[in-house]
Amino acid sequence: MTKIDFDQLIDRSGTNSLKYDARQRLFGRDDAIPLWVADMDFAAPKAVSQALSARAQHPVYGYSEYPDDLYLATQQWFLRRHHWHIEAEQILICPGVVPSLHATIMALTEKNDQVIAQPPVYFPFFSAVTETQRKLVLNPLILQNDLYQINFEQLAAQAADGAKMLLLCSPHNPGGRVWTESELQKLLEIARQFQLIIVSDEIHADLVFTGQKHIPLASLANDVPIITAVSASKTFNIAGLGMSMLIVQNSQHKKAIEAVFNSWHVSAANPFSIEATIAAYQQGDEWLDQLMIYLQQTYKWVEKFFAEHLPKIRVLPLQSTYLIWLDCQALQLDDKQLRTFFVQKAGVAMNPGLMFGEGGSGFMRMNIAAPMAVIQQACQQIVAAWEKAELADFKAQN
Ligand SMILES: Cc1ncc(COP(=O)(O)O)c(C=O)c1O
Repeated sequence: MTKIDFDQLIDRSGTNSLKYDARQRLFGRDDAIPLWVADMDFAAPKAVSQALSARAQHPVYGYSEYPDDLYLATQQWFLRRHHWHIEAEQILICPGVVPSLHATIMALTEKNDQVIAQPPVYFPFFSAVTETQRKLVLNPLILQNDLYQINFEQLAAQAADGAKMLLLCSPHNPGGRVWTESELQKLLEIARQFQLIIVSDEIHADLVFTGQKHIPLASLANDVPIITAVSASKTFNIAGLGMSMLIVQNSQHKKAIEAVFNSWHVSAANPFSIEATIAAYQQGDEWLDQLMIYLQQTYKWVEKFFAEHLPKIRVLPLQSTYLIWLDCQALQLDDKQLRTFFVQKAGVAMNPGLMFGEGGSGFMRMNIAAPMAVIQQACQQIVAAWEKAELADFKAQN
């Protein structure tokens, strides 16, 4: 297998890229290094581009249906990579994970039912609950020795109190925590005891570093209602193509979720996402293995760089994902000042931790899925801006 060149700088201008083209609108400047929304600046695997080109060669792009090959490629991927056996009948193909969270909540809970989320967490988890008129119940993660832990006691109490559903992020975004088998078993025990439905968003399942192992929650139990969201989108940088899958163990649940999608008239298959996903799942192993090595090297570089040059920014251990969680509390800036510092002074656009809810204040999320030179430049700009700010403070006080 040839070595993939993740160092290659790819100009994304002119591609309507959200990460690049929305900078002026969202951050007030269009030259900040964009390390925010979770897509990658790397080329997708060649097999994916080739499959897309081949499909584009056929000039008719009409309504499509999901072929058996798509189901098979998905089943084989999860068996090969995660030792998880999925039945084709359990797979519901969806136009994205976030819409599928909404659809699942609408299908399996009633208005005003309590749905639990575990902040700091990917913010659409909150809106998926509130926009569907359910009650958001928070079970905040606890940061212990730099690793997030689940507050099981509180979770059990919330389930006992009538909460219907838990939105689990596994691996967790932000922070990249990979939940262990014993933690997942504890969740399952609570779910069994209180008939709690678990929606496990496993979109980051494939992006796990050496030494860690992602365990699909549903591979541990079939006596608990689990709905798992997966996608090739994050793994292979094809999020713009809009395809994900729900793996639903209970056939009644699957029918109910499907009915919600049908009522939205969004169940039509996109001919390009079909080809891309099949190619990625069939031929993407080696590319992914090399990607994880590259991301791990970048993460290690960032960790060392801040430890040496600006230890007030603490890089939390990353077990998975390309989303580094930076503890900036020692900078002693409030969240507004933090944002101003990073965007205006350092010229780096990241997601403020506060977006992820309780526990996110004082943190920033840095997306490192870009050529290492870009990440190095961003980190150097941050350190230089901080030194300049400290110097200005010192001058002002003396
Ligand atoms: C945990 C999690 N779920 C879902 C998504 C988005 O999924 P989609 O684009 O398929 O809606 C993201 C994107 O960052 C994510 O981190």
